[in-house]
Amino acid sequence: MNGSRILGTGSALPRRVVTNAELAERVDTSDEWITARTGIRQRHVAGPDETTATLATAAARAALADAGVDATSIDLIVLATATPDNTFPATATKVQDSLGCNGGIAFDVAAVCSGFLYALSVADSLLKTGMAKRALVIGAETFSRILDWEDRTTCVLFGDGAGAVVLDAPGTDNAGKDAPGILCSRLHADGAQHDLLYVDGGPSTTQTVGHVRMKGPEVFRHAVVNLAAVLREVIDEAGVSVDAIDWVVPHQANARILDATAKKLGIAPDKVVITVDRHANTSAASVPLALDVARKDGRIKAGDLVMLEAMGGGFTWGASLIRM
Ligand code: UT7
Repeated sequence: MNGSRILGTGSALPRRVVTNAELAERVDTSDEWITARTGIRQRHVAGPDETTATLATAAARAALADAGVDATSIDLIVLATATPDNTFPATATKVQDSLGCNGGIAFDVAAVCSGFLYALSVADSLLKTGMAKRALVIGAETFSRILDWEDRTTCVLFGDGAGAVVLDAPGTDNAGKDAPGILCSRLHADGAQHDLLYVDGGPSTTQTVGHVRMKGPEVFRHAVVNLAAVLREVIDEAGVSVDAIDWVVPHQANARILDATAKKLGIAPDKVVITVDRHANTSAASVPLALDVARKDGRIKAGDLVMLEAMGGGFTWGASLIRM
């Protein structure tokens, strides 16, 4: 039996766009450096009235409209974020209330940039057990609120946004590699790598929100190795060939990571969806945002075989192969 099916996708971005040139007025950087080293040209940054919950709700509404289903049919919300509105309750419960579908299951998942892959797998598992019938899986972040805007090695890399999918429990008729649904997912974590990418604050340690700290080049090296390994694992487990994959929708951290990972696996660069130039790294939001962009512009169509993949702080990483 296949996994749960994606019925619709949606996304939302803050109104304000910040260009590399604008950042170069604040810190010692340049458009040339950022573009050459990362592929990023601009990012969206949340205004005072925009939060992780408002962006998540807007993305969820867009996904519900795309799927053509009513919010009241949602009995599970899994929201991936590292930048919740409050320490508690879960931002998912705020989204649930805004959508008017209170009563079902709603919780957040913290796996930073891999958060959407973790959330998708958790939702898929719950749908398969019959605990719920229809889920909203959301990745939403306001990373701009935890950036050290004096630190040029991190502040130029991230942006804010949200992406969402409506996920339906697998039907009994929904079997085989050609039927729509999640074919295979794999998740990993390695807590020994904590100090390479973390936030230096939190309720139980400093009682502050803290700022993102990253040893970029070391994260880069681990990302290429871990992503290539988990992609290979999913391809082998699903029993498909690399050539059968129509689209790869990766976490958008750095265009050079996307190139290196695709090359390592022998995936043609024109099959890789890239949005890092427009959105920068939106952490848990980046995969569902890119998926929505490629569906709405007509690249990803029903029946396509799509690989989602991500790696982030923890470290955490994972991949999902989906028949659309
Ligand atoms: O989403 C979670 C996963 N995150 C990632 O995957 C991020 C992975 N890492 C990366 O994407 C890259 O390592 C970075 C984009 C963060 C950095 O690129 P890099 O090519 O690895 O540069 P670097 O850190 O080795 O720095 C090279 C030089 C240094 O100067 P010196 O020591 O050579 O004089 C840095 O100080 O570039 C300097 N530098 C900058 N210069 C201008 C670092 N940041 C900047 C900046 N503007 N913003």
